[in-house]
Amino acid sequence: MTLRAVVEGIGHYLPDRVVPNSEFEKTLDTTDEWIRTRSGIERRRFAAEGQTTSDLAVRAARAALENAGLTPDDIDGIIVATSTPDLTFPSVATMVQKELGMTHGFGFDVQAVCAGFIFALTNANALLIAGQAKRLLVIGAETFSRIMDWNDRSTCVLFGDGAGALVLGLQDGTGANTDRGILSADLNSDGRYRDMLYVDGGVSTTGAAGKLRMQGNPLFRQAVEKLTSTAETALAKVGLTGTDVDWIVPHQANIRIIQGTAKKMGLPMDRVIVTVQDHGNTSAASIPLALSVGVETGKIKQGDLVLSEAIGGGLAWGSVLLRW
Ligand code: ACO
Repeated sequence: MTLRAVVEGIGHYLPDRVVPNSEFEKTLDTTDEWIRTRSGIERRRFAAEGQTTSDLAVRAARAALENAGLTPDDIDGIIVATSTPDLTFPSVATMVQKELGMTHGFGFDVQAVCAGFIFALTNANALLIAGQAKRLLVIGAETFSRIMDWNDRSTCVLFGDGAGALVLGLQDGTGANTDRGILSADLNSDGRYRDMLYVDGGVSTTGAAGKLRMQGNPLFRQAVEKLTSTAETALAKVGLTGTDVDWIVPHQANIRIIQGTAKKMGLPMDRVIVTVQDHGNTSAASIPLALSVGVETGKIKQGDLVLSEAIGGGLAWGSVLLRW
């Protein structure tokens, strides 16, 4: 018998304010056409003034619990992947815990920028398999609009706000790759790439949150190469290849990165969940948002083999292979 961490419910939340590309044409030397063709992004959501990352996370968590038919009493712990927390501390996870009315269990945050949800999911899987919890809420939530330099056209048009959450429980499996649940994962980072993507502020440097800085072009090349290799590694761990996958649910940074990775894996685009046109890059929220949209639109069904991969600041990158 092999214990498997299985998705029991999923949900998401997007702030009300929809920002089309045309809004940036008013203040920047940019066009809707440039943003669409270079990134695939058509619109994104921005959180309202005063709306925080934990507000988005709580709404996504409630949606996932409802989808699972569970209440906060059924949850043993909360892991939130975010790089845009409400405060330096305490964690967003403990804020979510309080809002859900939970006085039991534990909560903590994971920070691996755009790869954060992959790292959070892998941690959740390990905690469940090790017997530390029976059921966890795993959330990706971000308000990247708060760390944009609105004068930098090469970054501020690319990001958005949102949150996605899933409930991960335990189920007996056989040990075969036909089991439901998380089948394998692959995590990587390489701090030599720090300057490719970073925020130019922080607690022990400037004392302020700072703004996002990115060398988009070299990062693009790193992304396609590293996303393909981590996906292949996760698949190889359980004797599978790209053609076995029903759905790739990638980090949604740029449609050209998504297309390049799918091509390298030999998969057609009709087996890829794409939300970048509507959400922009929501960092750690992008994969749970895309998973939730994939389920909501009836594409991802129970039993499907789903591969998620992401790369972000660090650089940090990785993938999770699971059977829905
Ligand atoms: N509007 C018009 N022109 C622009 C804009 C804009 N919004 N932004 C940049 N340009 C210009 C540049 O100034 C440059 O002009 P130049 O040739 O005169 O110097 C030209 O467009 C081309 O710029 P590139 O950066 O070479 O454009 P590229 O095709 O690489 O696309 C992009 C840029 C979209 C940023 C792309 O490189 C990309 O997506 N990179 C990867 C981002 C990524 O993967 N992030 C993932 C992690 S994110 C995270 O962890 C938080």
